[in-house]
Amino acid sequence: MEEIQLVHIGDCRVTGDPDTILETCLGSCVGVAIYDAVRHIGGMCHILLPDGPAEKKQTHPAAYATTAIPFLLNAFEELGGERKTATTAIAGGASIMTKNTGTDLKIGQRNLLAVMEGLRQADVKVSYQHVAGNLGRVMRLYMRNGQIHVRTSRMPTSEEAGRQIDEQWNANTLRTSILQNAEDLKPSSNVAIRALQLTNGEDTNISELEQLILQDQVLAANMLKEANSAYYGLSRQVHNLSQAVAYLGMRTFKKIVMDTCLADIYDRRITTYDMEEGAFFYHSVTCARISEAIAKVTGCTEPETAYLAGLLHDIGKIVIERYGMDMFTQVTSRVLLKNESFVQAEKDVFGLDHAAIGQYIAHNWQLPAELEEAIAFHHEPENMNTISPLPCIIHVADHICNIAGIGLSNDSMTNGLSQSAITALDLDERAIEDILATVPRIIHTHL
Ligand SMILES: [Fe+2]
Ligand SMILES: [Fe+2]
Repeated sequence: MEEIQLVHIGDCRVTGDPDTILETCLGSCVGVAIYDAVRHIGGMCHILLPDGPAEKKQTHPAAYATTAIPFLLNAFEELGGERKTATTAIAGGASIMTKNTGTDLKIGQRNLLAVMEGLRQADVKVSYQHVAGNLGRVMRLYMRNGQIHVRTSRMPTSEEAGRQIDEQWNANTLRTSILQNAEDLKPSSNVAIRALQLTNGEDTNISELEQLILQDQVLAANMLKEANSAYYGLSRQVHNLSQAVAYLGMRTFKKIVMDTCLADIYDRRITTYDMEEGAFFYHSVTCARISEAIAKVTGCTEPETAYLAGLLHDIGKIVIERYGMDMFTQVTSRVLLKNESFVQAEKDVFGLDHAAIGQYIAHNWQLPAELEEAIAFHHEPENMNTISPLPCIIHVADHICNIAGIGLSNDSMTNGLSQSAITALDLDERAIEDILATVPRIIHTHL
């Protein structure tokens, strides 16, 4: 029975097990796969940046092209692989365009150049490449026969789209129905929304929050399971919520409340946006963690508020998945044929985009206005009357997820990075790369 082993951001895996399929998801990152067909040894790495500081290259050698190539080849040869006769493939390196200026951040391009140079220096020939452009990719290496498969996000062919596009489309008829459907979107527990309201802000009454969660045994049990997971690295098991608060601290406890409250509506396949099972939750939680990190670095927003906004930013997609599936080819057709951004195509088809649907949900759940605003403008922070930092933080964190291939969807690379958001947060390309470099740590280690 074949089993998929994920190669996470900045990771490297080598194996001789024929039942393994190595898989990695890529935005502007570059994946390298190598396979020795004689000895049936293979390996894959997920490269995040061309180069980085010495201490980071030591802790995450596979994250940087300069160290990743020798690291992968050493591990491959230690297991018995032979580089001279191996098949080598590269994939990824997609562009991230900024909206206003239309310029490319060039992380993908620079990654590709660094990887090609690294392979040339190591005397390894590239047999197959599937690179550049503006789509996310999933690369697989089947260890059974060495087959390398790269797929981009599923979109209709231009022929299909040509037949499907409807110029007479009336989006206003759908808008009302979509919003009615959004009203029904709630976590399975009534306690969860109240708990989400209580987590926001610094002055949370933690014992009130604990008492509330205890009213829902499933929620409480799931919280304890999460608190005891390897991610939080507790040296001893916690058996009740008070212990969880004591050992993890109030801030972490609140983040576990947020994750757990949304887990039941987030953990499903989002076929409209071509997201595999679990990808939506992974994207949301990672965006939350990166948003929290940016809030800490910039100091312009409460980190917990940024976390919750990051967690909720794409919640409107769930309504489109539940209600808009039949009409969704109209969205992809417009992206493909009219070269529209996904958010513009959503507005044309549904009368509003997933960001506006998400804002409506946050309003219904009586979450604070700043969260509503962050969700509403997470793709178009430049459209705010007065630009405020939280939507900009979520916007940048979302793009960092896309660059790294975290929870890829078919709209990942088409919505454009807002120069206004970068300027408002006083960031530059270098600062974005610095945040990107922290992603492997953010994903694997509780800070
Ligand atoms: Fe979004
Ligand atoms: Fe997103």
